[in-house]
Amino acid sequence: MSSHSPQNNKPDLDTPEHIAVFVESFYECLLNDDRLAPIFTDVANIDIREHFPRIRAYWEKLLLGKNDYHRHTMNIHRELNAKQALLDEDFKQWLDYFIYVADRDFSGQKTERAKQIATTISQNMRKVIDLA
Ligand code: HEM
Repeated sequence: MSSHSPQNNKPDLDTPEHIAVFVESFYECLLNDDRLAPIFTDVANIDIREHFPRIRAYWEKLLLGKNDYHRHTMNIHRELNAKQALLDEDFKQWLDYFIYVADRDFSGQKTERAKQIATTISQNMRKVIDLA
């Protein structure tokens, strides 16, 4: 059952469909940003058809307890950081878009949880990618 917050009628990030909509909108921001887009398109050279299902599966695991994501996210960003250093400003921008899209389009417990997790993991990632 998906829930809508009574105050504002925005959906929560509580179904795979809502998570898919969130990921689309979040990446629309990332891929239109002059600072971040080249990291995806030039440095990592992502194939969006492979990338989106992974991002969706990642958030379905963290928010819905699904178990379809089994990759080492930290190592993937460590390798990315070795190709092009990810800076504090990059992390700030990434997180700003995440919170902006989450608050703009969604509301509820899972949405709050998603923002908390993104904040914690980005801080943690910022630290560990520089460690050997
Ligand atoms: C400076 C901030 C960030 C940038 C520029 C960034 C960029 C990227 C790029 C370019 C990829 C594709 C890597 C590849 O396929 O080789 C990727 C993958 C991914 N990122 Fe990030 N990322 C950032 C922060 C984060 C954070 C904080 C999280 C989690 C909260 C996250 C979650 C993921 C996930 C789940 C993948 C998919 C990895 C896979 O292929 O399984 N990213 N990111």
